[in-house]
Formats: sequence, structure tokens, C-alpha cells
Amino acid sequence: MSFATTELTPLIGTRIDADKTTLLSGNHAAELRELLEQRGVLTFPKIGMTDEEQRTFAQTLGTPTDQGERGLHKISLDANVTATAKYLKGTVLWHFDGWNDPIPALGTILTGRVLSQTGGQTEFSNTYAAYDELPEKTKARITGLKVAHTMMGTQRGAHETVTQEMEADWAGFHIYRHPIVWTHRSGRRSLLLGSSADWIDGMDRTESDALLAELKAWAAQPRFVYRHEWQVGDMIAWDNTGVLHRVEPYPMDSGRVMHRVTLEGEEAIAA
Ligand SMILES: [Fe+2]
Repeated sequence: MSFATTELTPLIGTRIDADKTTLLSGNHAAELRELLEQRGVLTFPKIGMTDEEQRTFAQTLGTPTDQGERGLHKISLDANVTATAKYLKGTVLWHFDGWNDPIPALGTILTGRVLSQTGGQTEFSNTYAAYDELPEKTKARITGLKVAHTMMGTQRGAHETVTQEMEADWAGFHIYRHPIVWTHRSGRRSLLLGSSADWIDGMDRTESDALLAELKAWAAQPRFVYRHEWQVGDMIAWDNTGVLHRVEPYPMDSGRVMHRVTLEGEEAIAA
């Protein structure tokens, strides 16, 4: 039995060195949940979990959703592998998952199965830290603001050509409004941004675009970001409620496949 933790950067990311038996036992589950919230991202290099082990590990951390095959969902740009592949191009933009769910996912556990020869690395940004370090006058300016989150936002900017058919599809999705600052049950606050954050309610569009661009650029600064260079067998867990993520572009025909288990959300977004 072994278990050791190492911080990957000062503000985000902790590597867990542990054997499978220890992780699957759940003995460190409470500590891992705490680390997940505090550090945003946990990496388990070359741990080599099977699908069943990945499901079991996820159950020690939370409640897996029933997506995919008994909770395990395959992520690929190949529509034969992933039914929603046509929307996955948008994942090259910073985003959080579940902007259109009543309660966004708590987190994701992702394993690298087939990697792309180029691109395909994943970046994470700690939005608790990004909020905490904002200048006080910016915090005051954005307190109470609400943002409209749209499918159009998640896709615009991710495609080389946009057809009328694509626009009509994206426009058909419901618009959700969330506070720009999420005050969690713990009392901690995080910036709730990402590509879905399309405009600020009640603000002139030009001013809204400028403020959102400024805040998105703020959260993407290197000190808030951990970049994971994948090796086959790596597993990552991240806190979707306090982290933005994006994947570096990779070829459609790269064959890249990741296996994912999503943990059900436990906390509604609140101002
Ligand atoms: Fe995502």
C-alpha cells in the first residue's frame, strides 16, 4: 500500500502516486475529495485502470452518472465512437461541463486510452484562484452580474466554417443564466466563465464582450493553469465546479480515445 501526493504547480494540480489497490479501496477517498476541491486537478500517471476499475474508483469519490456504458463514456472526434462528436470541436475552447444542466457535474475522471500523435494535451485553469487574485475593484464590478450561457457560445470560434444549418442547430438550444461569481456552500468563490458564457445580462454588448474577454484572459494566465501531457494509461480527476478545461486541437482522424466517468453534481450554482 502506498500513497503520496506532490503539488504540480503552486496554484493547481496534485500528482497522486499510489497503487491501484490503495486507490480502489476508498481508504483515501475523503482526502482525495478534499484535494480535488483545493487543488482542482489530480493526476494518476500511468495507473492503467481498466473500465471496471475506473468505474469503481469513481464510486469512491462520488456518484457516477449513467452516461455511456454503465457510466463510462468514450470521448472521440469520430462520430462512430461518440454520438455527440459534432459538438466536441468546441472542447478546444476553455469551458466547464454542464452549463446547461440544473446542477453541473461535480467532476470528471478521464483516462487516456489512444493518444493523438499531435495535439490533444489537456489544460486546466483554477477558477477559485483566478477569482481570489482579481483586483478588489474588479470583484466589486462583477458582483451580482449574470451571464447568459449558450450553445452558440460553445461552438462559435471552434469551427473553420459555420453553415446556416449549424447556426440553426446551435440557436435551438435553451439559454441558461448563471452568476459570474459562484459562491459555493463552502463559502469559497470561483469565476464561472468558459466558452458558453456569451453575454452579460443588462450590459451593452460591446462592453459585455470586452469584460468577458478580459476575465477569460485573466483566468487563462499561466499561474492558474496546469497542462497535462498525456501518456497512455494516465488518469486525471478534476473538479468541474472550480476548474475550466480545454483540449489542444488534434486531427479528426487521430484515433484519440479517452474514457470518461462523470460524477453527478452535488451543488446548484449560486450567487
Ligand atoms: Fe469538457
